[in-house]
Amino acid sequence: MKIDGVPYRSIWLDEDGWSVRIIDQTRLPWSLSILRLSSAAEMAEAIRTMRVRGAPLIGAAAAYGLCLALHDDPSTEAMERDAAMLAGTRPTAVNLRWALDRMLTRLRNTRPEHRLAAAYAEAAAIADEDVAQNEAIGRHGVELIRARQKPGRPVNVLTHCNAGWIATVDWGTALAPIYSAHNEGIDVHVWVDETRPRNQGASLTAWELGSHGVAHTVIADNAGGHLMQHGKVDLVIVGTDRVTRGGDVANKIGTYLKALAAHDNAVPFWVALPSTTIDWTITDGIAEIPIEERPATEVTLMTGQTETGAIATIQVTPPGSGAANPAFDVTPARLVTGLITERGRCDASPEGLLKLFPERA
Ligand code: MRU
Repeated sequence: MKIDGVPYRSIWLDEDGWSVRIIDQTRLPWSLSILRLSSAAEMAEAIRTMRVRGAPLIGAAAAYGLCLALHDDPSTEAMERDAAMLAGTRPTAVNLRWALDRMLTRLRNTRPEHRLAAAYAEAAAIADEDVAQNEAIGRHGVELIRARQKPGRPVNVLTHCNAGWIATVDWGTALAPIYSAHNEGIDVHVWVDETRPRNQGASLTAWELGSHGVAHTVIADNAGGHLMQHGKVDLVIVGTDRVTRGGDVANKIGTYLKALAAHDNAVPFWVALPSTTIDWTITDGIAEIPIEERPATEVTLMTGQTETGAIATIQVTPPGSGAANPAFDVTPARLVTGLITERGRCDASPEGLLKLFPERA
């Protein structure tokens, strides 16, 4: 996608050919800050503090983190140690574990002197495949938007958190069908949930859509149900951090409440994902998906730009009030209209998923 007319991916190799460049997402939308990372520890810090975030992107970032580890020390011991460090950064998005497993499978079978080149080739393949998968999600998802066009009014899509191009290597998952619709001239408007506590909707999704010229309106997280009751939402599309083989969906905290409101108002609720987000080892999302608990300060403090242009952090709770911060929730498959994957759309059910991915039977 483009920023001010310049094409970007969310992660790329520096011109030195080995260090890694990322967009620091903690600085958006106020400034476009590009960081150069040169060690696995720096990459782990970037994932943990959410300079890079979004399930597919943290998978690609972990893969490049392992390249940086091998650049330092190609020994098996260092490789296994740093892979474990990277795997421990965030627990919910399964793409992180998937990417590291894929890297280790390739590298454990490669002699140490050939490992570095093999690692960079594998990480590049992971990144390129993510772009192709998301572009395909856009093609399969745009049909849903196209089908809801009515003369004289936009198709209103509600989304939660940020599942756009900066949450992946490019294109995004939930936003890919929206970009495809916009690119083919469909009148589309997006309701953007602000997504407390970290405001990925207000700060990242709004920035992305604005940069691409897509009409959008930021709403408080609690407004979606009201808009649905009044016919102002044609469909919901969200991303996900882990889908079970039964079709349960973990995504940013608050997604479940949107699914309940959508169900009550007969609004279609679609989830967009590359197959790297499916955890084929589990069935029951509520019982089996680990939910990340993040620092309470993400709830008690808010960061924004003041009138003078300075970035400031303020406290929004009384001193002494505790805060809890579960970062994800699970939407049961029964509340999901369907899944949009790179192979097409399917029911959120074991049968639906196996129809698209028969090799997993
Ligand atoms: O905590 P985050 O910002 O990494 O959470 C991101 C989300 O919940 C996204 O919806 C999900 O990763 C899908 S990204 C294409």
